[in-house]
Amino acid sequence: MALVNLLRHYPKAQRKMGKPRSKNPLNIEVARKFGREYFDGTREQGYGGYKYDGRWVPIAKDILDYFCLKPGMNVLDVGCAKGFLMKDLMDACPGLKVFGLDISYYAISNCMKDVKGRCIVENAKCLPFSDKSFDAIISINTLHNLEREDLKIALKEIERVSKGKSFVQLDAYQNDEELEVFKDWVLTAKTYLKPHEWEQLFQECGYTGDYFWTILSPDPKWTDFSSDKKTAPVWNTTA
Ligand SMILES: C[S@@+](CC[C@H](N)C(=O)[O-])C[C@H]1O[C@@H](n2cnc3c(N)ncnc32)[C@H](O)[C@@H]1O
Repeated sequence: MALVNLLRHYPKAQRKMGKPRSKNPLNIEVARKFGREYFDGTREQGYGGYKYDGRWVPIAKDILDYFCLKPGMNVLDVGCAKGFLMKDLMDACPGLKVFGLDISYYAISNCMKDVKGRCIVENAKCLPFSDKSFDAIISINTLHNLEREDLKIALKEIERVSKGKSFVQLDAYQNDEELEVFKDWVLTAKTYLKPHEWEQLFQECGYTGDYFWTILSPDPKWTDFSSDKKTAPVWNTTA
């Protein structure tokens, strides 16, 4: 079990938006359906266009190196969305058997052609695989979308179907300021904790894999000139 930043190459988002989007309950309601609006609708309700841009290429290389993955091994991406990371893992390591799972019918229906037939629509709290099926399991920015008790079930599921190597990236905050930014901007997360609280939760449910945090911090370099003078947040995966 280790704190490891496998997303160190993930680009920091500089988002210029007006009003904090979570202030509108409709944005939360729509985003939590994980449908077209969340992936390919507006920035207020989600990604504002979830398109392949190659950003996962260096991250895939880090994952392969870190877990010593080789052709013939099995990998599962829990919360794979359209399969961008899956594709980059397969490209970087031909012969690696990569599978994905996501609750979003929209995302799986619109997944990259390279990963078609390798992804299923399913809830992370019920992985339809037998014990110790995967050499590595990855779940990036997904499990915090579950309520705390369901999240614990999902972590137990990862533990059950992995052969011992896994990595989860979860939303976290370290102080009141970061919590406020979270509440203003994050639409889908239902469980967000301080790092030490996450580590306690891992112990509670027996999760022994690796992990890292996505921490949303206000950007000190950029000020929003919209009416409420909020600063724009930066998605920080390197805290
Ligand atoms: C923030 S996106 C992250 C997608 C991808 N891992 C990435 O980092 O780009 C969260 C993903 O989790 C999926 N998701 C949310 N709740 C889920 C659940 N209970 N089981 C499986 N997937 C879930 C969503 O459909 C969405 O694709």
